[in-house]
Amino acid sequence: MKKLLVTGSNGLLGQKLTAAILNDDSHRFDYIASSRGVNRYPIKTGYVYVDLDITDHKQVKEMLKRYQPDVIINTAAMANVDACERDPEGSYQVNVAAVANLIALCEDQAIHFVNLSTDFVFDGEEGPYAENDLPNPLNVYGKHKAEAERLLQAAVCPWTIVRTILVYGIVPDLSRSNIVLWAKEALESGREIKVVKDQWRMPTLAEDLAKACLTIAERRAEGIYHISGKDLFSICELVEVVVEHYRLDASFICKESSVGLKQDAVRPKRTGFILEKAYSKLDYVPHSFGEGLKLMDEQLAQFKKT
Ligand SMILES: NC(=O)c1ccc[n+]([C@@H]2O[C@H](COP(=O)([O-])OP(=O)(O)OC[C@H]3O[C@@H](n4cnc5c(N)ncnc54)[C@H](OP(=O)(O)O)[C@@H]3O)[C@@H](O)[C@H]2O)c1
Repeated sequence: MKKLLVTGSNGLLGQKLTAAILNDDSHRFDYIASSRGVNRYPIKTGYVYVDLDITDHKQVKEMLKRYQPDVIINTAAMANVDACERDPEGSYQVNVAAVANLIALCEDQAIHFVNLSTDFVFDGEEGPYAENDLPNPLNVYGKHKAEAERLLQAAVCPWTIVRTILVYGIVPDLSRSNIVLWAKEALESGREIKVVKDQWRMPTLAEDLAKACLTIAERRAEGIYHISGKDLFSICELVEVVVEHYRLDASFICKESSVGLKQDAVRPKRTGFILEKAYSKLDYVPHSFGEGLKLMDEQLAQFKKT
């Protein structure tokens, strides 16, 4: 059994990883979850949870010495793109400096280090992208994630970079929002939403991403992997699918250009991934966006009951 440590286990991907590990009948992992503050995952047994801030380098060192994992999946991040733009130092500490510290410790202990990255390392001029396309980030978040990638690529421990795109899904306490929930909740309550019409993405179901990360950990798949959904939509098209799925009122949607939205961080125009490597090396089979929405519906009904 592999000893697996996940950071940021309270986040969207973190909670999906916990769910997948606890529901894994083949018991592939001896699991240590960690995140800032108290454990927000509702099931607290069958694994160890540690309150861990990855920017506390001393605490991270002590933790790795104590638990000696075979693999770390680092999902902890400052992932709000506009917040990173407003607070570049905060972003640097979590998205780069903490990763540098983790790499040094993984090198000492020969730990396989899996770090989550983003389509925002690309400039969006020539998407969909393959793993070996050249990064050219446009904003602070993308630049810091790209810097972390460079550190990993120079590391002497086994390493994997998992890039992903616009992750959606729901967690039991409904604490993490995403584009689907944001649009659904706003339109249900009759609020107008501004939706960008000139940016294209391949939305990723959080369960698919978690499964791919665990396959990487199990197979020790090294290098760069692109993991996303298989459908490419403009953000407007994506919200229109959500509207149709939940029979919402589309008249509250205000279509805007990227320039008109005036967000703090500039976004790449068209990203999207070529998924051939994930298909062939990880047996990756992503859900369609429609299937993902159906799964979310089932979970929403279940989480509201409990
Ligand atoms: N979500 C997306 O659309 C998307 C797209 C591309 C790439 N990614 C990348 O995928 C990874 C996972 O994303 P996600 O959607 O799961 O993000 P998320 O829901 O924001 O989860 C990140 C988790 O990290 C925790 N965290 C933040 N700073 C920390 C620190 N210093 N020490 C320990 N924990 C810390 C957060 O804690 P709190 O809960 O206390 O805030 C949160 O629980 C990230 O690396 C992100 O950059 C995400």
